[in-house]
Amino acid sequence: MRASARAHANIALVKYWGKRDSRLNLPAVGSISLTLKELFTETTVEFVATSDSDQFILNSQAASPEQSERVSRFLDLIRRQAGIDLSARVTSRNNFPTGAGLASSASAFAALALAASRAVGLSLSPRELSILARQGSGSAARSVFGGFVEMHRGERSDGRDAYAEPLADQHYWDIRLLIAVTDEGEKPLGSTAGMEHTARTAPYYPEWIRSSSADLVEMRTAIQKKDFTRLGELAEFSCLKMHALALSARPGIVYLNGTTVELIHAIRELRHRGTEVYFTIDAGPQVKVLCLPENARQVSDFLKNFPGVQRVLETTPGPGAHLMAEEA
Ligand code: PMV
Repeated sequence: MRASARAHANIALVKYWGKRDSRLNLPAVGSISLTLKELFTETTVEFVATSDSDQFILNSQAASPEQSERVSRFLDLIRRQAGIDLSARVTSRNNFPTGAGLASSASAFAALALAASRAVGLSLSPRELSILARQGSGSAARSVFGGFVEMHRGERSDGRDAYAEPLADQHYWDIRLLIAVTDEGEKPLGSTAGMEHTARTAPYYPEWIRSSSADLVEMRTAIQKKDFTRLGELAEFSCLKMHALALSARPGIVYLNGTTVELIHAIRELRHRGTEVYFTIDAGPQVKVLCLPENARQVSDFLKNFPGVQRVLETTPGPGAHLMAEEA
């Protein structure tokens, strides 16, 4: 009753923000992402009869009560589906900073969904796994797959049509995503609370939802045609639209710090001087920079030398969630 899985983080090119149902974690909008090879979570789950509560070790330390509670609630879904009543020992490790807008919940819940479902003997299809992972974190539904991935908003109230699907695998198009880390601390407001607050108070929320399907259509086309200019411009647009929405909440949610804003200007300046680079930013102050392989070295050096940037992670398209061979 033990299994280990690895899942990779993903970064949204068309952003998800807002839930149409918070109990089932159904997104209010669809989204499109790129799964990243270099950032991943490895998780081992073992169900045991000898303990009466779950144990969760994250990055070699006992996880916080909130993190443990979230994992236990997720495991309840699997226990219910498998008809078992055993406690679990969960050990998880991220090879990148946790909770700082680097999509750790995406890789975490995709790895947990796969490891835990296999540990109880369930053999779920990728779509079923995506539906399960979604209930841990919306973006985790996308990390089940590699390469370019689309998450469907779905219409049904039971969430059976709110799953992710691959658009193109990790070998389809070699684009690069460089992550400029400006602050490694945990973000002040998690995405779930941020989304609820936005939906309740932001005047632009209805328009955000209405305008999202056009972005999805355009991004699908950009990926199909390998049109990097279109992909990059649209990724910036979707990112700024999401932040404008969060800023319009009351009180406004500001995920950006000074360095984030300086980088937005600097990246556009670099582009105007002839290097094709685009940014995207999630619910945290890190800046993710899209470029083509031939410009990766130049862009990476530029980011590393930028005041306020602590380090730069270089990523490429990566694979979907997969099981790992059992350790001895
Ligand atoms: O999956 P969550 O609940 O952590 O939300 C992710 C939200 C963004 O990262 C800001 C956007 C996205 O689509 O990944």
